Amino acid sequence: SIPSKVQLIDVGPRDGLQNEKTPVPAEVKIGLVQRLQEAGLREIEVTSYVSPKWVPQMADNHEVMAGIARQAGVRYSVLTPNLKGYEAAVLDQPDEIVVFGSASEAFSQKNINCSIAESIERFAPVVEAALAAGIRVRGAMSCTVGCPYEGEIAPGRVEYLAGLLKGIGVQRVDVADTIGVGTPRKVQRAIEATLRHFAIDDVSGHFHDTYGQALSNTLAALELGVWNYQSSVAGLGGCPYAKGATGNVATEDLVYMLHGMGIETGIDLDRLIDAGAYISGFLERKPNSRAAVALLNK
Ligand code: HMG
Ligand code: MG
Repeated sequence: SIPSKVQLIDVGPRDGLQNEKTPVPAEVKIGLVQRLQEAGLREIEVTSYVSPKWVPQMADNHEVMAGIARQAGVRYSVLTPNLKGYEAAVLDQPDEIVVFGSASEAFSQKNINCSIAESIERFAPVVEAALAAGIRVRGAMSCTVGCPYEGEIAPGRVEYLAGLLKGIGVQRVDVADTIGVGTPRKVQRAIEATLRHFAIDDVSGHFHDTYGQALSNTLAALELGVWNYQSSVAGLGGCPYAKGATGNVATEDLVYMLHGMGIETGIDLDRLIDAGAYISGFLERKPNSRAAVALLNK
């Protein structure tokens, strides 16, 4: 049955901003995190500890993590692809670290410069160190339905990656449609493949909205009982290594749909729209959220 409560992880400060060409000052990122927590978000993906040559926008990770005013009950997560990233991240005391692998070999190479097998070797010591330090560990799985280089991805590849992540101690995973090509039944197959290794409570949906399918895909995931989702305020974003991919589903649109279905999120939609308007204002564009634009024009 469809969950009565949903937990949203806003990935706007990380996934949303990582691909922005104009540098967004740390102060603005900190302001965004502040507005998201004031809107009721209880999980926020703040930044990543990756090569600044690859992703210059995230080079201010320390400054952003040091600047946020942490609120009790909010979980702040960060991406760490290897031990170097983990060692930098741990200084900033994240609540959760995220290792990020791919169901597609070609995307793994483009995104993190190594094969799937090598990525697991890099992640294993990161996961071990994090768990020993009492930091939670999530695993993002990219390209679970389609890959910009390999095309359609079979559910067996997702099951394989999920098994590898489970094997090294990852506690929960994101089923990501990196380039937003998925449609509801395909997304369900990817989730079912993941459920062979992870419990329903430990699986989240991460749907980019490139083809306008993200809300439909969310509904399909809800039908399977998935109650954790990643989304991006104002629909910010895109992955630097997935050409043409647009942002995650807008958090505002997701909240509008969920509340309309009587599903609790703990989020105040008006304040969320303010958060989206804040960052969109800085970027000098309209929020990429249909619900936000409709409500702002009311
Ligand atoms: P590499 O070149 O294979 O790494 O990159 P290396 O170990 O050979 O090191 C090369 C250089 O990078 C060295 O510096 C290292 O010190 C440095 P140099 O000596 O040349 O000056 N380096 C680092 N610097 C900072 N932090 C680190 C780090 N590691 C090495 N952690 C690496 C491997 C993973 C670092 C690189 O490929 C990289 O940074 N890639 C960027 C990946 C990324 O951020 N992608 C976007 C996020 S994932 C995503 O958006 C998908 C997701 O949303 C789910 C979905 O939608 O699919 C999660
Ligand atoms: Mg993503």
